[in-house]
Amino acid sequence: MDVRLTRPAPAGTEAAGLDADAIVLVDFDSARRFADKFPAVYESGEATGEFLSFTLLHNAPGFAAKRVLLAGAGKREKFDAAALRKLAGAAVRHLKGKGVRSLAFALDDGINGAEHVEAVARGVILAAWEPDRLKSRKEEKSAVASVTIAVGGNQDSTLEAALEHGRVIAEAANVARDIAVEPPNLLTPTTMAEAARKVAEANGLAFDLLDESRMRQLGMGALLGVAQGSVEPPALMVISYKPAQAASGAAHLGLVGKGVTFDTGGISIKPAEGMEKMKYDMAGGAAVIGAMQAIAKLKPSIPVTGFIPAVENMPGGKAQRPGDIVTSLSGKTIEILNTDAEGRLILADAIAYAKQLGCTHLVDAATLTGAIVVALGYVSTGVFTNDEQLTERFLHASKDAGEKMWRMPLDDDYMEQLKTVYADIQNIGGRWGGACTAAMFLKEFAGETPWVHLDIAGTAWLDDPKPWMAKGPTGIPVASFVNLALNWK
Ligand code: BES
Ligand code: ZN
Ligand code: ZN
Repeated sequence: MDVRLTRPAPAGTEAAGLDADAIVLVDFDSARRFADKFPAVYESGEATGEFLSFTLLHNAPGFAAKRVLLAGAGKREKFDAAALRKLAGAAVRHLKGKGVRSLAFALDDGINGAEHVEAVARGVILAAWEPDRLKSRKEEKSAVASVTIAVGGNQDSTLEAALEHGRVIAEAANVARDIAVEPPNLLTPTTMAEAARKVAEANGLAFDLLDESRMRQLGMGALLGVAQGSVEPPALMVISYKPAQAASGAAHLGLVGKGVTFDTGGISIKPAEGMEKMKYDMAGGAAVIGAMQAIAKLKPSIPVTGFIPAVENMPGGKAQRPGDIVTSLSGKTIEILNTDAEGRLILADAIAYAKQLGCTHLVDAATLTGAIVVALGYVSTGVFTNDEQLTERFLHASKDAGEKMWRMPLDDDYMEQLKTVYADIQNIGGRWGGACTAAMFLKEFAGETPWVHLDIAGTAWLDDPKPWMAKGPTGIPVASFVNLALNWK
């Protein structure tokens, strides 16, 4: 999707003059901002300004555009950049199949700042994405292909950068979605690594791929234990960004993403119903790949390395058993009590490896537990940590990104549930507080390194479409990752 900016003068007359297949005019709840131009649609009660309500008018007198889309923005006081992102996306999706190829957004006073331009750019690019790569006949033939954002009289020179930022982040999220949506027969650890290599090479990033034999040499017994039940070999992708002048001894951010290309549960097998959804169990890894693309383009001042451990969790004849004890890269021994708690095992080794490679701060994203979905639903990502300062930074970055996060507890008390006499730690913590005990397990491997864990099981996938986004992968938390790196001081 092509997105550009225009600042036609004089201010106030630009909307009428914009030439496009359709122009979006933003109205607020009960504000009746365009009632003088279109009295009938207001008098009939059709145009209300209610959030995400749309009225499409053809051949509106006085407008160069072929159609006018009145877009309801809801209550003025509740309307922010995140709402505008949704509104812009919903407008694009509302116009699908209606023959609108070029679209203009008229942003006037109060909603024409840098954050608004960024929101529209991001919203329309995210909205254009469809999960239909493998459909022979695409359902919607016409879709918006180009968007012009008109910012009234605002001559601010930061607007171009804001548009670029929004574009880069949305395109990166779409890269993550492209990978996450792939079916598990086509996206194996090997093909996921090929996708990561492509992204790295296209963006000038260093790429390393650890195969099974290197993992064995290093002693990644936790990761290898999960992988051994599948005929698909595991892969550990390492994607590195280095700033032009990195201060030595400074921070080095590590992003770690769970890459289980399919999670059957292994010998502790999952029920058949809904198992197909477990193809998204690599959404955290996909988000790291996407984030690295945006980081390469936006060039933060700190080095960032992405780690994506990828496996297929299968119950093959060589699969690990409940009762097995494995030795992880950190040296800690782990008693496997449930082979379906596999994400934490591969992350344990990836986190230890990230520390070995010199990462000073770590953030991981993982579709780790069903328990986080019980706790937070599909609305917020669960945030766990061993470090207040990094968490504050991260929550700030995610707020800027418009990705909802909710802090969860992680007291040492949760460790009681992970104790076993047979090994240093066991891989499940019993029925209660499952998201917390999973995080506690990871904390043992993060050790003293400042670390934030994101449980994205509820937020990485939409079972039903939103007006502004297709069903399927959401691309969360790509934008938060990128902002964290960019805002680093
Ligand atoms: N990939 C799942 C977590 C998951 C479950 C994500 C449901 C999305 C929806 C993870 O590997 C898993 O199976 N976790 C188990 C842990 C349990 C065995 C302690 C779970 O959540 O049930
Ligand atoms: Zn599992
Ligand atoms: Zn899993």
